[in-house]
Amino acid sequence: MTHIIDGKAFATHLREQLTTSVSTLVKQGITPGLAVVLVGDDPASQVYVRNKGKQTVAAGMQSFEHRLADTTSQSELLELIAKLNADPDVNGILVQLPLPEQIEESAVINAVDPAKDVDGFHLHNVGLLNTGSPGLVPCTPLGCIMLLRDHLGDLSGARAVVVGRSNIVGKPMASLLLKENCTVTIAHSRTRDLADECRNADILVAAVGRPEMITGDWVKPGATVIDVGINRIEGDNGKSRLVGDVEFETASKVAGAITPVPGGVGPMTIACLLRNTVEATCRQNGIDPGTILPD
Ligand code: GUN
Repeated sequence: MTHIIDGKAFATHLREQLTTSVSTLVKQGITPGLAVVLVGDDPASQVYVRNKGKQTVAAGMQSFEHRLADTTSQSELLELIAKLNADPDVNGILVQLPLPEQIEESAVINAVDPAKDVDGFHLHNVGLLNTGSPGLVPCTPLGCIMLLRDHLGDLSGARAVVVGRSNIVGKPMASLLLKENCTVTIAHSRTRDLADECRNADILVAAVGRPEMITGDWVKPGATVIDVGINRIEGDNGKSRLVGDVEFETASKVAGAITPVPGGVGPMTIACLLRNTVEATCRQNGIDPGTILPD
């Protein structure tokens, strides 16, 4: 029987544990604060930002939301980031991506104080991750690793294939799998015989943003499949529905375990953002995060 990995339940449990971590900090007079910056009015980003705010407050933390017009200039945004960097009530800063075209994403990402970079996108944190050092790790790949470790235990020696090479998911995912002693391949749109590469994988992570691109015949029997894709497509009944980068119907017949969409990786991202905010708060206050965070 294929195991369906319940990311929604895992994320709910993680958020409950984090609520306890937060109350431990609050008793010491420290209330973690997360600032989320949204530039423009992209509907999907607005939904994410609203959910982030709600879940931050539900975990006992302070939420600061900054919504800026889509005509905001890069220097105006950098000015806000400088203020948030200097604000002692703000322990974590997230600038929702994508940004409008007049703003250079890398300039903004690298303006965030690395100690408050709860997205783990700053070059400093990228460097720490790639040298296997402790630092803030991008939320979606961190959530994937938690689900994999929970399901498989030790990942050592497994052949892992990551499809997708984005800075947000593919590359950090590969670094984390390497840290777990997997043999890692990063495949992408130019990979020759992509299906063959995927068929070698004990762990297959799909992060390409192409609806249902990976079908059951690309999956090694018994493999663990992690589907990071969230794509809205037109359903048969004319209504839109969410699908992953993996064709669930065929892949779930072959895989040993698979994450569904929705309810798999998606809920883990915000839970890991809250986790990173607690971690950042601990480090900024000279507290070992290991004494506060759930395992
Ligand atoms: N847009 C889509 N995913 C993310 C994410 O993980 N962080 C930020 N900041 N923006 C995103």
